[in-house]
Amino acid sequence: MCGIVAYIGKRQASPILLDGLRRLEYRGYDSAGIALWTDGGIDVYRKAGRIENLRKAVSEANPPGDLGISHTRWATHGAPTDENAHPHKDQSGNLALVHNGVIENYISIKDQLLAEGHTFQSETDTEVLAHLVGKCYDEGEETEPQAKLVAAVQAALPRVKGTFGIAVIHSDAPGVIVGSRLGSPLVVGLGKDEHFLASDVGAIVAHTRDVIYLNDYDLVTITRHGYDVSSLDTNRTASVKVSRVDFTEDDAEKGKFEHYMLKEIYEQPQSIRNALRGRLSRDEATAVLGGLNMSPMELRQIDRIIFSGCGTAYHAAMVGEYLMESLARIPTEIEFASEFRYRNVPTTKSTLQFVVSQSGETIDTLAALREAKRKGLRCLGIVNNVASTIARESDGGVYIHAGPEIGVAATKTFTSQVTIMTLLSLLFGRIHHLSSTDGLEMIDELEAIPEKIESILKQAPRIKEIAQKYANAEGMLFMGRQLNYPVAMEGALKMKEISYIYASGHPSAELKHGIIALVKPDLPSVFIAPDDAVFDKNVSNIEEVKARKGPVIAVTTEGCTDLERIADDVLYVPPCKSILSPLLTVVPLQLLSYYVALARGCDVDKPRNLAKSVTVE
Ligand code: G6P
Repeated sequence: MCGIVAYIGKRQASPILLDGLRRLEYRGYDSAGIALWTDGGIDVYRKAGRIENLRKAVSEANPPGDLGISHTRWATHGAPTDENAHPHKDQSGNLALVHNGVIENYISIKDQLLAEGHTFQSETDTEVLAHLVGKCYDEGEETEPQAKLVAAVQAALPRVKGTFGIAVIHSDAPGVIVGSRLGSPLVVGLGKDEHFLASDVGAIVAHTRDVIYLNDYDLVTITRHGYDVSSLDTNRTASVKVSRVDFTEDDAEKGKFEHYMLKEIYEQPQSIRNALRGRLSRDEATAVLGGLNMSPMELRQIDRIIFSGCGTAYHAAMVGEYLMESLARIPTEIEFASEFRYRNVPTTKSTLQFVVSQSGETIDTLAALREAKRKGLRCLGIVNNVASTIARESDGGVYIHAGPEIGVAATKTFTSQVTIMTLLSLLFGRIHHLSSTDGLEMIDELEAIPEKIESILKQAPRIKEIAQKYANAEGMLFMGRQLNYPVAMEGALKMKEISYIYASGHPSAELKHGIIALVKPDLPSVFIAPDDAVFDKNVSNIEEVKARKGPVIAVTTEGCTDLERIADDVLYVPPCKSILSPLLTVVPLQLLSYYVALARGCDVDKPRNLAKSVTVE
């Protein structure tokens, strides 16, 4: 949520910053801006709307300058206007600052600064922070400008409450950018005679793969030739570790696909293979998950599991609950991360908590992790972004290894998270009740999933036709039973997120308890009804909808032709063990929402009002 890129080096800064912002646009796209150090001072360019608007303005001016900071915004305080766009300057106009996060006590600081004669141009909390740092600079001890800027940031930040990732420049200090973080990610990129700051490595991976992931309270200075990491907190020493990014610039590009979302849907066979690689033991008929950092004895003592996450990650956790209870018979609960942190969920001495997050930065999920740890629970992460805050703060966990996911609507990370849930359930199952024969069968079935998804993807033209038929629907219902109830929730979420059609997901049997009142000819229902133990029950529910003239799209299993005569449109997935069916049935729903959004002319990768990584509460 909001993205920062900063550059200092020997190249023209503006194209590097604009390219970095383009790669961070998934973090917010309400407005964007850059500030460049030039001989005369600091020049700021800001534009409401997409980064393309800013790119046009900056490209026309083609400004020189080899030092700059930039920002793409997801509005929290103040509407998405030019004035509210970052960077913001201080009272003197000599300092510019970009910020990701929320300054909770900005009103009281602003009142104080107003009383001292400061004037503000925007409604943002960030401008208040710029003024505060500027005031600390102007009132700081006379020393050389670089040290003075560092001291100003160090003096200002302890006075704010909230979260921040910031980058600051000053016209007196042409050779330095100062950054810091608390609760919002910031990474340093190390190049030859050039250095970078960014909210996400994706913004700078085209220039360097050597990075330092900053920790909360770190204070960093980057110059052309070096960097220094210290701490805002004098009682703490900053630890610095240089990491190598394991993906390339090309992995974060659309390639031949029209949208990132489509590319990511098509990547699922590979991302699932990546999630499984090296994690299956045929000899022991189980999963091998060393990152849990737990011995078999410790695993065996676990008597309760809690999964928490938000959005798509929460839906994957719902599938995890079914899997864990069926395969391992361990009582499992799922909690929205945002609720877990404020509820007082009863736990046992041997409760294990998992937090599930693609980005590893979602603030509610991070807060749930911290609450669990505060209660003394062992808390593990199921995360995509390596070295993200959740990955670093958890006691261990499992990376899903899905690669960069740029489309705001999560797709491949859902199936990868479900794959990891399956591995966890297999591992716990084998510790408790599952025989080696059953374990081996699970392994065979899991390994066959990627190829089955490839065959579903071949039906894309047919799904596109169906999508066009229903693109003008005023709403949609998604229904499924057991493990396909979370898939119904996920299908509805995808439809809402990118096509703006109101959609809701329900257990099929709930239809009769209220939802059926909505059924009418222009409200299609999507039934996820594979050929499993509850197939006949789903058929009855489909009949109930058809009897009330509601159109039905059904997703069922190849070879099961029963639905052809009842449903209006039928999509097929290959047969599989029913417990693994969510990995297949979700794919046609992802494609359906994609093609409906396309037919409605929606911006698939950047849906309105959303951001991929929600780092504010
Ligand atoms: C946002 C995104 C969703 C995502 C959710 C959780 O709401 O729009 O697509 O599922 O955050 O994100 P996480 O990174 O924690 O998985």
